[in-house]
Amino acid sequence: MRHSLYSKEIMKYFRKPKNVGIIKNADGKGRVGNLICGDVMELYIKVKNNKIVDAKFQTFGCVVALAVSSILTEMVKGKTIKQALKITNKDILKKSGKVPPIKVHCSFLAADSLKEAIYDYLSKNDLKIPKELQKEHKRIKKNLDKLEKEQKDFVELEKKLLNK
Ligand code: FES
Repeated sequence: MRHSLYSKEIMKYFRKPKNVGIIKNADGKGRVGNLICGDVMELYIKVKNNKIVDAKFQTFGCVVALAVSSILTEMVKGKTIKQALKITNKDILKKSGKVPPIKVHCSFLAADSLKEAIYDYLSKNDLKIPKELQKEHKRIKKNLDKLEKEQKDFVELEKKLLNK
C-alpha cells in the first residue's frame, strides 16, 4: 500500500493535522515556496515574553509537507525565539519518522517558514536579527519571488481559495 512509504507519525499528522489555520494579529508570519515542487506554506506565530506561545500553518503541499508543518507547530510552542531559531529540518525529520528520500525537501518548507516567521517578528519589533538569519531570509525570499513569478496563475488560485 502507498501509505507504507510514510511513518506512522507522518500518517497520523496527515490524517489529523494539528494547528491548521491562521493567527489573526500574528506577531510573525513566514511565507515560503519550494522551488522543487512549487508548494507553498505559511506559518504564523504568537510571541509573549520572548516565547512562542502559539503557532498555526496553512500549506498547499503534499502529505509530508502537511505533516511536518503540523509537527513543527507542536515543536515550537513554548520555545524561546533563540531556541526556535536552532530548529533545523533534520530536527523536524527526527520527529517525523521515516520519510522517503525524494520527500526530504518537503521538510525544508517547514524549517524555512519558521525562519521567516522569526525574521518577521524580529524586524517588526526592531530587534536584532542575527547575520545568519538575514542571509537565510534573502535566500528564502528570492526563491519565493521566483516561484510566485513563475506560477502567477497558481498564486491567484491560492488567494481565491484562502479568501485573501
Ligand atoms: S512535494 Fe512539495 S512540499 Fe512535498
